[in-house]
Amino acid sequence: MNSNPDYVSSFRQISPYIKSYKGKTFVLMLPEAAVTHANFANITHDIALLNHLGVRIILVHGARQQTEQKLQDPSTTAQIHQGIRAIDSTTSPLLVEAIASTRFAIEASLSTGLPNSPMHNANIQVRSGNFITAMPIGVVDGVDLQYAGKVRKVDIHSLDEMLFNHAIVLISPLGFSATGEVFNLNYTELATKIAIDMNADKLIAFTKNNGAFNDNRKLQKQLTLLQCEKLLLQKDTSNIHLSLKACYKACDQGVNRAHIISYIEDGALIKELFTRDGFGTMVHRDSYETIRRARIDDISGILELIKPLELDGVLTRRPRELLEQEINHFTVMEIDGTVIACAALYPFVKGNTGELACMVTHPDYQRQGKAAKLLSHIEKQAGKLKISQLFVLTTQTAHWFLEQGFSESSLEILPQEKQKVYNYQRNSKIFVKTL
Ligand SMILES: CC(C)(COP(=O)(O)OP(=O)(O)OC[C@H]1O[C@@H](n2cnc3c(N)ncnc32)[C@H](O)[C@@H]1OP(=O)(O)O)[C@@H](O)C(=O)NCCC(=O)NCCS
Repeated sequence: MNSNPDYVSSFRQISPYIKSYKGKTFVLMLPEAAVTHANFANITHDIALLNHLGVRIILVHGARQQTEQKLQDPSTTAQIHQGIRAIDSTTSPLLVEAIASTRFAIEASLSTGLPNSPMHNANIQVRSGNFITAMPIGVVDGVDLQYAGKVRKVDIHSLDEMLFNHAIVLISPLGFSATGEVFNLNYTELATKIAIDMNADKLIAFTKNNGAFNDNRKLQKQLTLLQCEKLLLQKDTSNIHLSLKACYKACDQGVNRAHIISYIEDGALIKELFTRDGFGTMVHRDSYETIRRARIDDISGILELIKPLELDGVLTRRPRELLEQEINHFTVMEIDGTVIACAALYPFVKGNTGELACMVTHPDYQRQGKAAKLLSHIEKQAGKLKISQLFVLTTQTAHWFLEQGFSESSLEILPQEKQKVYNYQRNSKIFVKTL
């Protein structure tokens, strides 16, 4: 085992994610270009890892390159109308063949199990079936699109059953009609529909780029639905735009979060899912948690959080008047307008130190990494104030601070003014963290 302390602390940092992802449903949207890329073996390893961690995975793939190749055959006459390819009885079997070829490549990759590879003994079960009922798009501008179809129904019960048995469900962009015909589907629309109907926790779109960029070519790490809508106003038909559209639609219709990540970058999936800052673009509904400076109208919310802990002696008492004076030192995390966590930072100019205090997460939201996230935010704030060392006084939370990289210290490290008011009766332990 690697004894590097970074490795250990990284491993600890991912623990809240591991817990929170267990049993969650992720729909992964894979263009064919991802499947044929050299990095696909790594993506497969990461998918296998998620499967082992208990994430319920549905993989929806495209088959564009293969399809284009097949349609280069001069005997085919597939025309495009409003961006949709008309598929006749000659081209339809060719497309099914193209899709099957991509599908088998994915199945083969998920079936590898070579020793000395992350897939050794993975024994992943890949399942598929007639989960998608389709219907023809019909006639557009007088042109019959024939076997170009759209999703009519997703068999969520069968999908649920497969996922319950820990299988990865692999879905190709094909659907079947009650009349026994096969229809070609747009894989991004299919993945979006499945994510919505399955009430998925995440839709994850793989693209060539790291995520969505704004006009200034700056990667957009997080987008609310409103911000996403604005980006979508730009005229663009690239894959990233289509992925962003899918993310927007999925989140708008109930999926918690949607992500755009690179299929080229090794480990992009893991970095996006298991690090606080992520790696690609995350789209979330507007109700997502925010961390911000506290305002005077947050005082009631903060008091509600800290009062029970003051009564238990975990926190020192802060009357409302004091809180009003010190509100500028507080940072809060809110969800849907409710303060669910708070922390305060008191800078001491001499010695470039700062005190972290009053770190609390509402009991309903504990053990989801909220306080750790808030701490990381406070550390960034401290960095801007040129604070190089944080200290905290605590009576009952020593181990939490230790796990966040603090170490125990003694009274002498505190700024003079803090030493003078140290409460010997309370006998708090002192922890420091160098930033
Ligand atoms: C400490 C506290 C802020 C952590 O909030 P959180 O959002 O749940 O934190 P995280 O999700 O980042 O971390 C949760 C982990 O910390 C652990 N933890 C919580 N309180 C702890 C404590 N007093 N001592 C040691 N570990 C603790 C949890 O058990 C959990 O670990 P586990 O699930 O792996 O077992 C929260 O428990 C709290 O509000 N406690 C009361 C107030 C307090 O003591 N504040 C610190 C004084 S300034």
